Amino acid sequence: MKNKGIKYKGIIFDLDGVITDTAEYHYLAWKKLADELNIYFDRKINENLKGVSRLESLEIILKNGDKVFSDEEKHYLADKKNDYYKEMIKKITPQDILPGVCDLINNLKEREIKIAVASVSKNAKTVLDNLGLLDSFDYIVDAEKIKNGKPDPEIFLNAADGIKVEPCCCIGIEDSKAGIEAINRAGMLSVGVGNPETVEEADIILKDLSNPSDILNLI
Ligand code: BG6
Ligand code: MG
Repeated sequence: MKNKGIKYKGIIFDLDGVITDTAEYHYLAWKKLADELNIYFDRKINENLKGVSRLESLEIILKNGDKVFSDEEKHYLADKKNDYYKEMIKKITPQDILPGVCDLINNLKEREIKIAVASVSKNAKTVLDNLGLLDSFDYIVDAEKIKNGKPDPEIFLNAADGIKVEPCCCIGIEDSKAGIEAINRAGMLSVGVGNPETVEEADIILKDLSNPSDILNLI
């Protein structure tokens, strides 16, 4: 296994699709916008949007249409999608935390493992707040301060720095292709959850985090 013999001291979680199923809300909000624009968009295309910033996601969607938009129009469309998304995440409660995640967090804290969130979403703090998890992490990356999104390793390196753990002693957990690449490029152990094809480059592939010992056994 990569980083064999390493003692892992930090776990860095992606948010959307790992801690809660907001990946579905991102999809539904983009689908609503794409339908309004008469642009073909489905769940397969959506896999490429996971972990990717709002404007980059819009660019991927627009590739399937023949309309040309100015930068101003693109910002308007991205804002519109974000309005749909913000409406959807208003109803999030602690019950929307995915199975096993709370147990895993509690177990990691008991073992004094540092935990961080590395999400490129500008809505991450709102989502964490609605989940009741805002104070549960040692560090939450501020997406506004990240220059290069996933697959660039910057966001995971920033998280490692935030919890003061060397990257090689961190495990990153992601549901996106871009995110797994970012973790691998950061020199961390990568755990992929969700669609196995999407996370095929991960060191370890899990269906979900419902069994906390899948992660605890790595420590
Ligand atoms: C990522 C999601 O976490 O955040 C992407 O996987 C999303 O789908 C990105 O586009 C940006 O989110 P937001 O909330 O800033 O539009
Ligand atoms: Mg994700």
